[in-house]
Amino acid sequence: MADELSLVCSAEQDWCDMMVAAFEAEQPDIDVLMVRKSTGETLAQIRAEAGNPKIDVWWGGTGDPHLIAAEEGLTQPSGADTSELLGWARNMADISDGRAIGIYAGALGIAYNTEILADRNIAPPQCWADLEDPRFVGEIQVANPNSSGTAYTELATFVQLFGEDEAMVKLAAIGQNVNSYTKSGSAPSKAAARGETGVSIGFMHDMVTLAAQGFPLAIVAPCEGTGYEVGAVSIIEGARNFDAAQAWVEFALRADVQSRAPEVGAFQVPSNANAQVAPESPDLASIKLIDYDFATYGSSETRERLLARWDAEVGDPNPQ
Ligand code: F6P
Repeated sequence: MADELSLVCSAEQDWCDMMVAAFEAEQPDIDVLMVRKSTGETLAQIRAEAGNPKIDVWWGGTGDPHLIAAEEGLTQPSGADTSELLGWARNMADISDGRAIGIYAGALGIAYNTEILADRNIAPPQCWADLEDPRFVGEIQVANPNSSGTAYTELATFVQLFGEDEAMVKLAAIGQNVNSYTKSGSAPSKAAARGETGVSIGFMHDMVTLAAQGFPLAIVAPCEGTGYEVGAVSIIEGARNFDAAQAWVEFALRADVQSRAPEVGAFQVPSNANAQVAPESPDLASIKLIDYDFATYGSSETRERLLARWDAEVGDPNPQ
């Protein structure tokens, strides 16, 4: 009988599907049972199942909740070899004592539908501060940081750029212009691509995917600077199928495997130094990036405090 591997995937569905098919082709004795869930939702599930986990391995999603799971003892070291990985990926392993390992990186940005803004005669945004302007009322979509790792990265980025109190004031002002807070981090840019909203906040690589498909999306690196994610992979503490989970982690860190992501439009920067970087991938060196403090923003105490403040001072009037 085949072994089973229960996987939660917090990357885009197409990439999740491709990874599972490629892994099963190499490991015919392992059946992968995969579900796609946003990063914050996955952390909530892992917490709820502590001591009796249904998931073996968590692949993809922003690194902060992976680090929090590690700190809370909900994940365990994989023992994987990280020697081929770039410094920012090994940094995740260092912070988490080997429990979370970086698999990709990507910067946060703003997208706008060029046709919608032109039709409505709205000047495009260039800075985070522009999104507070009443010209964008009802035009902005962004995810909810409770469920989405993308939106938590945005919240942590604002705190690092402006300080905690000012960040809440700015996010509440932008909130006056938000038409909907989605569960998933890539949903707002998909809505902007389809013309359902004028402006989205999200990861630039997800915006590139849509622009490459021909949607009229322009991508902005905000003038104040921006934050970034290091996506991660973690094995759950008490995983029933540890060996299969370990095989998955080793597979996911390989250069040849990471190099295939662009086939399904995943344009994050790969963590293996020998993997090919797609020409479409946003060039992180040319974007004004903050020195994102993963140890602080990937700690339970900080995330709980910031989410409580977000709920109280920004808030989603119509939670999904
Ligand atoms: O796969 C797309 C992606 O943007 C990843 O780069 C990121 O880690 C993940 O989605 C975050 O998703 P969410 O915001 O839904 O947790």
